[in-house]
Amino acid sequence: MKKKILVTGGTGYIGSHTVVELQNAGYEVVIVDNLSNSNAEVLDGIEKITGIRPAFAELDCNDKEGLKALFTEHNDIKGIIHFAASKAVGESVQKPLLYYRNNIVTLLNLLELMPEHGIEGIVFSSSCTVYGQPDILPVTEDAPIKPALSPYGNTKQINEEIIRDTIYAGAPFKSIILRYFNPIGAHPSAEIGELPNGVPQNLVPFLTQTAMGIRKELSVFGDDYNTPDGSCIRDYINVVDLAKAHVIAIERMLENKTEEKLEIFNLGTGRGVSVLELINAFEKGTGVKVPYKIVGRREGDIEKVWANPEHANNVLGWTAKESVEDTIVTAWNWQLKLRERGIQ
Ligand code: UD1
Repeated sequence: MKKKILVTGGTGYIGSHTVVELQNAGYEVVIVDNLSNSNAEVLDGIEKITGIRPAFAELDCNDKEGLKALFTEHNDIKGIIHFAASKAVGESVQKPLLYYRNNIVTLLNLLELMPEHGIEGIVFSSSCTVYGQPDILPVTEDAPIKPALSPYGNTKQINEEIIRDTIYAGAPFKSIILRYFNPIGAHPSAEIGELPNGVPQNLVPFLTQTAMGIRKELSVFGDDYNTPDGSCIRDYINVVDLAKAHVIAIERMLENKTEEKLEIFNLGTGRGVSVLELINAFEKGTGVKVPYKIVGRREGDIEKVWANPEHANNVLGWTAKESVEDTIVTAWNWQLKLRERGIQ
């Protein structure tokens, strides 16, 4: 068995897929999650795929005493992957303090506790949102950080700064910041996937729910952008591919494969896909039609962004493998599984 890793937010969408990949790679995992946007049944899915039920503590990372007790109980945790955060852009505009507390105090607690518990590294979930609308595409890690368009986006920028300042001040641990582009899809087993709370805000869960008949029609936010078909362009990355990057990042920090104390990587495919192209890929891949209509632009949306993933490819040794065409089918298989289970 390899080292023990704490995964905060480990029952969430990206967290659960990462736990599976960590366990498949031989790591022992402890999950903390307050279940605010996930449920404990995800543990069953993880166990079905890997044959191992990860240790789980229902805990809010705002609870520093609770975290302390956890680190004392599991005194052999060597690394942290920190996913636990609130992530709805619109909600963050309505409830900024909730977002600042949930997304910032939690990181402070972890960083403060790491040295006294001998934890050697932390992987942080950041987002391409820090680039805003980049001037040059594809976007590299040294592109300028643009003023955030929402409290959510701001928390990601602030978190990155907190980590950078802490490392530069000589903290006795390493960090890798991963800037995700748009994660989509589900585990090929369809045992785990994205479980949005209420009406989905993100494109793919709304699309699959519409195809299922749960939603009447998908609104495409704008067709008058400066893109070939007028709809926005994103870099959609398979969630399992994304999860695998975390295993590589943990290994890199904990097995001293890098001298750097802080590294930042874009995690994307390098391919930009428009909203209309994604709908088309879904219909082709599944044979299911998606009723949609073009509506006005969504406030705060970025016109087009896709990654230059060369730094991750060459330095981290990670490359996205799955195509968007295959990935969108895994999202549908997950939606079918949810229906089978009577969830939606
Ligand atoms: C947003 C955030 C990102 C965050 C992610 C997670 C920004 C700029 N981006 O990504 O940082 O990590 O949410 O919640 O803050 N779309 C439709 N109809 C829909 C839903 C979406 O047309 O019903 C379009 C959007 O206009 C966009 C694309 O689909 O062009 C993807 O949208 P979404 O899945 O919400 O992700 P982002 O906005 O890229």
